[in-house]
Amino acid sequence: MSIVYNQEEKFFNLHTQNTTYQMGINQYGYLLHNYYGRRIADVSMDQLLDLNDRGFSGNPHQAGRDRNFSLDTAALEYTGCGIGDYRISSCEAVNADGSTAVDLQYVGYNIYKGKQGIPGMPAAYDNGGESETLEIMLEDPCTGLRAILCYSVFENMDMITRSVRFENHGDGTIRLERALSACLDMQPGSWDLIHFHGRHCMERQPERLRQPHGITRISSKRGSSSHQHNPFVIMASPETVEAYGDCYGMMLVYSGDYAAEIEMDQMNHTRLVMGINPDTFSWKLDKGQSFDTPEVIMGFTHEGLNALSQMYHRFIRNNICRGKYKNIHRPVLVNNWEGTYFNFTHEKLEAIASEAQKLGIEMFVLDDGWFGKRDDDYSGLGDWKVNEAKVRLTELVQTVNSMGMKFGLWIEPEMVNEDSDLYREHPDWVLKIPGRNPSRARYQLVLDFSRREVVDYVYEQIASVLSSCNIEYVKWDMNRSLADTWSAALPADRQGEVRHRFVLGVYRFAERLISDFPHILLEGCSGGGGRFDAGMLYYAPQIWCSDDTDAEERVLIQYGTSFGYPASTMGSHVSAVPNHQTGRISTMDLRGAVAMSGMLGYELDLTKLKSAEKAKVRQQIREYKKYAELVMNGDYYRLTDPVKDSDYCAWAFVSENRKKCLFYLVNLHTRANAPLINVRFRGLKPDANYKIQREKRIYSGAALMYGGYTFPAFAGDGQVVQMYLEETKSGTAR
Ligand code: GLA
Repeated sequence: MSIVYNQEEKFFNLHTQNTTYQMGINQYGYLLHNYYGRRIADVSMDQLLDLNDRGFSGNPHQAGRDRNFSLDTAALEYTGCGIGDYRISSCEAVNADGSTAVDLQYVGYNIYKGKQGIPGMPAAYDNGGESETLEIMLEDPCTGLRAILCYSVFENMDMITRSVRFENHGDGTIRLERALSACLDMQPGSWDLIHFHGRHCMERQPERLRQPHGITRISSKRGSSSHQHNPFVIMASPETVEAYGDCYGMMLVYSGDYAAEIEMDQMNHTRLVMGINPDTFSWKLDKGQSFDTPEVIMGFTHEGLNALSQMYHRFIRNNICRGKYKNIHRPVLVNNWEGTYFNFTHEKLEAIASEAQKLGIEMFVLDDGWFGKRDDDYSGLGDWKVNEAKVRLTELVQTVNSMGMKFGLWIEPEMVNEDSDLYREHPDWVLKIPGRNPSRARYQLVLDFSRREVVDYVYEQIASVLSSCNIEYVKWDMNRSLADTWSAALPADRQGEVRHRFVLGVYRFAERLISDFPHILLEGCSGGGGRFDAGMLYYAPQIWCSDDTDAEERVLIQYGTSFGYPASTMGSHVSAVPNHQTGRISTMDLRGAVAMSGMLGYELDLTKLKSAEKAKVRQQIREYKKYAELVMNGDYYRLTDPVKDSDYCAWAFVSENRKKCLFYLVNLHTRANAPLINVRFRGLKPDANYKIQREKRIYSGAALMYGGYTFPAFAGDGQVVQMYLEETKSGTAR
């Protein structure tokens, strides 16, 4: 049993294979957070609580003369507000009488096998017998606001998911102003925050900070999870590195505005909260109504950052991503975007496809520009009708299919150009505030996806194209941030709901798409990786990682992304040189190695390749097909830190049974008279012998992991060492 309630001492233990999460109910009816860390027995950990009389930290009324229990200093499981806890709160509300207090007291619990979904939202799922769920009811006795805390324990994955369902059991309307998914009062000690910031064309760069006193906030107000901050944070003890040390992860399964806040208080206690961004959220909960928060995924390990990443990788692959392509080979594709941009003809596309087929590419993807009056980004968006003058879609799909390749198509459902039939017919279907002219970005406006009829209309248009011919892949783009939020369909006192309703609209569209077209591989995208989150991964098992296709920069982007997300989720393409984003000329080997470490594609005009380059492409695809399974489902090891040692980077994929390993070392900047590079392998079996392909010598796992492998100095930037290792029973190892 992974969930245990100790009746006598009134505490809940949530056990996974290697971790325990504990909360207890105290004598005053509050749910306290006792412990989260390495697995322990069913004993109370309440000795960790700070129960001391402190000046200016008051006591709840029911504590009477007990001045040692304060909501301001105790570790709490999920907090209300306005009643004496002065730290960041988990939920805030305006009650019917105008007061702004929420006092959440323990009411009861319920434990059941398995896990339920969250209506209309993405959430981790159980593949059968993997999880157990605990629901804890808290209620404000004064207002009837109930918070049901839901915990699902995935014992073998070492993961716990959490979300909260709010219900209004009172008589009046309650307005939720903050309804976060989780609160974690950390173990005593000091904690480093590791988060992933970025910008368009440089997403998810790790930054590690010692948490200072006060509040640190990671968030998005862009309507999407954003390029700028990713909804995934790690709290690590100061000594934690890749291969050892305590670390906690918290990842939000959500694709809209969010916030993660970390506070170190006066007593050096650290609190971490995460959920929908309260800045752009307000939800009116009438009597009898309920509201579900998105889910967070929590993990803990004492084995370092790489182990934490691998836990998330496994969980995302197994319990978040769905559909036909969940864990099978994804077709190697060519996308015409950087090859042609908007400037293509039917014949040009055919020529690229025909070249692709000769090189062993498995799918042709037609990007932006195939519909409406869309010859640049000033018009056409919203008009999902094939522009037959430019491309005869059915015919092209047939041609591509007859070449033995699949066909894929680009869409951007949530957006519209003013110069489009859709906007001319429905000017009130966009987000804009009465009396104000809405801001444009990439010369487009945002459709009001908080309205079901808008979502359904756009869906019908796109679905009719998708069912008109054999389309087997869709790239779903989203090319601007939200602004001017106001919906013509909601009354004034519900305008604070638009942002979240927008995200629900996106999920509604996505769910319809994958259930009506289950054979389609959906790839997420938002100007590259602007909506790279576990929410979208529930619908789209891969996401275009970045609009930056420069291989050297991609090393950094994929490195940062790998902290939370597996290689199977990262769309990664070989593009032309000089690179269109940086002007840099990288070797074909480097471009190949980086793209082959994700879901491989090509994004250039293949007809312009020289024959030596074509030979390389053919070889890359042959190799990739051999190793794709390892890249998709293997354990990923970050072997060097390219932020610290920016001259090179090494990583590896190791099969679950530790018999196979695909290793890469890429040389980014050559130095004269450079020191040798020694890289220690990880994840091998120390007492097994490994044969390195194309080498005669046999090495023991111990030699490769404890001593490492020393590489000679490189002559020239962009050189790549790719090594494939397999366990062998023959020969003698070094
Ligand atoms: C975004 C995407 C690109 C491409 C263009 C098309 O920028 O990230 O890959 O699809 O849109 O307009």
